[in-house]
Amino acid sequence: AASGGLAMLGWLGFSWTAPPGGVVALWGIPGGFSWGVGSSAYQTEGAWNVDGKGVSIWDVFAHKKGKISSNETGDLSCEGYYKFKDDINLMKDMKLNHYRFSISWPRILPSGSKSEYINEKGIKYYDDLINMLLENRITPVITLYHWDLPQVLQEKYGGWQNISMVNYFNDFANLCFERFGNKVKYWITFNNPWSVAVEGYETGEHAPGLKLRGTGAYKTAHHIIKAHAKVWHTYDMKWRSKQKGLIGISLTADWGEPVDVSNQKDIEAAERYIQFYLGWFAAPVFNGDYPQVMKEYIGRKSGQQGLGASRLPVFLPQEKSYIKGTVDFLGLGHYTTRYVTQKNYPSGLGDSYFADRDLAELVDPRWPDPGSEWLYSVPWGFRRLLNFVKSQYGNPMIYVTENGVSEKMLCTDLCDDWRMQYFKDYINEMLKAIKAGVNVKGYTAWSLLDSFEWDEGFSERFGLYFVDFRNKNKPRYPKASVLYYKRIISSNGFPNQRELESWKRKATETCSSSNQLLAADPLIGHMEMVTEIVIPTVCTLCILLSAVFFLFLLRRCL
Ligand code: BGC
Repeated sequence: AASGGLAMLGWLGFSWTAPPGGVVALWGIPGGFSWGVGSSAYQTEGAWNVDGKGVSIWDVFAHKKGKISSNETGDLSCEGYYKFKDDINLMKDMKLNHYRFSISWPRILPSGSKSEYINEKGIKYYDDLINMLLENRITPVITLYHWDLPQVLQEKYGGWQNISMVNYFNDFANLCFERFGNKVKYWITFNNPWSVAVEGYETGEHAPGLKLRGTGAYKTAHHIIKAHAKVWHTYDMKWRSKQKGLIGISLTADWGEPVDVSNQKDIEAAERYIQFYLGWFAAPVFNGDYPQVMKEYIGRKSGQQGLGASRLPVFLPQEKSYIKGTVDFLGLGHYTTRYVTQKNYPSGLGDSYFADRDLAELVDPRWPDPGSEWLYSVPWGFRRLLNFVKSQYGNPMIYVTENGVSEKMLCTDLCDDWRMQYFKDYINEMLKAIKAGVNVKGYTAWSLLDSFEWDEGFSERFGLYFVDFRNKNKPRYPKASVLYYKRIISSNGFPNQRELESWKRKATETCSSSNQLLAADPLIGHMEMVTEIVIPTVCTLCILLSAVFFLFLLRRCL
């Protein structure tokens, strides 16, 4: 379904049926491209109540029973707060160009508000981190909001449901520019606001866990977009001339491919899928307003539901011009793809963001899915998304801010060949897109370390480095993909097929021997014994005893 058919043009001229383009995969890219890894505060720092840090909505959410897989929390996680020096050494060894991390808002403003109290210890932590990155020639790329809103703001105002967040966020951002902006040149206002809106306020799977179906996500997004624009203007007016940095937003989107590319209904459904995902945020910041198709669908459905106004809020004319053009670069997070087809959701079944789109999502069971349930490896979708961004938003400067794959395995296996494959194929598609003129300036592998994977707790591991969470020192061990990614960085892409195979061979040799070393580690060695020896032994004994008992009964009966 991914090829063939007549070229059909969707709105604004993106061709859904353009051939995937060139089979030549591997080539070097010009210098100046930035390779990095990413992380976020709540997922890695731990130290949740240390040195004056305030409580965030994620601290509270994770402490509630039944919200997170196995009731795990980010209280300790990787202890990045204490181990950042070790982590920077890992990055240095990989010869990374940049490190993307986020600032925990309540760590520096415990009550959320600048007028109340600035926690200098929190400021010092980020200052030390930034200084050490710079000493090691690693460019800091800072996300201001990676989901950890101060709990006080949630309790007092209802969090992003309330417009007052715009000013609170602006004050927090302004403080970050003031304290760190002379050293930091890349700022990201929000990480994946789609997830904040949909999972935080619509389905409730994420903090703050609200289930305001059909309205919560739209309202949240509306305030986030306004907050983003305000912070962009603050930077532009107050700090840019002195600090000379760039400020953007990081949007995450899957690619949506029409099930049948010769069917206009499927093409339109796929377009809706992307517009409700990426366009929801990208269209306002690039063009000043929500995508037309969102306005039409949500407006029509709201009318059918007997509502006087659309559930999608409206930007006033002056707001549109204020929001339009508030991106120096687009951060793009991407993991996976869906096939999409038209499906009607009749009104009366309850409103929701999902029903508003009138579509169904499908996956091809042959796509590899080594880890998270939702994450199928579909490399060609990445190039299509990049081309879409180029054609829809006027070829903006793009930094890939997240791309990677997880594994579910709970036992220790450092030989992650599926991750090497995923990186190779996805990076390769990105390189093809660059070759075709998409303006991608950097790539960020997600993530440096295994970390707290939100509602999945520690059960899904995205890290290049394995973290042993059971050990109180939280040691990090390189998976094979560390060496592999390191080679991609040093070659600035892929040299040729033969070299690639030798990278993989070497990476696999190293991981096999580290696997053995790990197995010899007394702590882990013990854990493996429990599952590999003790449990099977106990089971075998049980079966034997039951058989003996059964024979004994049989003899008595005869
Ligand atoms: C989030 C990350 C998360 C990743 C994988 C991204 O959209 O920003 O924090 O780990 O998805 O689920």
